[in-house]
Amino acid sequence: MNIVIFGAPGSGKGTQSEMLIERYGLHHISTGEVLRDHIARKTPVGQIAKTYINQGQLIPDSLMIKILEDIIDHEPKAKDGVILDGFPRTVPQADALKRFFERRGQELHHVIGLEVPEGELIDRMIKRGMQTGRADDNIETIKNRLNVYHQSTTPLRDYYIKEGKYRAIKGSGTVEKIFADIAKAIDAAE
Ligand code: AP5
Ligand code: MG
Repeated sequence: MNIVIFGAPGSGKGTQSEMLIERYGLHHISTGEVLRDHIARKTPVGQIAKTYINQGQLIPDSLMIKILEDIIDHEPKAKDGVILDGFPRTVPQADALKRFFERRGQELHHVIGLEVPEGELIDRMIKRGMQTGRADDNIETIKNRLNVYHQSTTPLRDYYIKEGKYRAIKGSGTVEKIFADIAKAIDAAE
């Protein structure tokens, strides 16, 4: 089973992925974490990614698609199913993902859409910024991230509704209740 966990910055994609990995035995790929790891290791990709991430902008589609495909191609565990967290974020990325799965004789089964009011998203990220020092969790960059999300990423909601893959989930409340709703939506659609 291949799943995309979809939602605005701070909506709980990473938090819910951890629980999904355990329940469904999937391999988790967070493109944000991949890029932050490149930045920490000061790789050439990291040098490019840093400027975009610190401004709350998306890194170019062609680079992001290549990075994601390389990871899946080189990770044997990905064969049994993945949770993609933070990818796709644009229509070209979604189109590329569809072609990529087709080439591998696979498909995307579910897009879990975590829906959280904007004020709560901002509060969560400000709090995390204070706790962890994550570089893009400051109010200016958070606003840019939310603008980019509304402009470039929200069209994917309709894209996946049309494909019959979108499962809307209320993303506020306790982590456990949200996870129970996700599991119910997945199991109902199987
Ligand atoms: P990325 O790392 O993907 O960041 P994001 O989408 O902004 O999302 P976050 O990681 O901030 O939030 P999340 O949804 O994972 O929520 P979390 O579980 O952490 O991307 C970062 C950057 O990388 C992008 O801006 C872009 O520059 C670049 N990038 C990445 N992918 C790309 C792509 N495909 N194309 C181009 N560029 C790309 O939760 C958030 C906080 O809330 C945590 O503190 C958590 O503990 C808390 N929380 C979680 N659930 C709850 C709950 N139910 N109640 C209360 N608090 C909660
Ligand atoms: Mg995350």
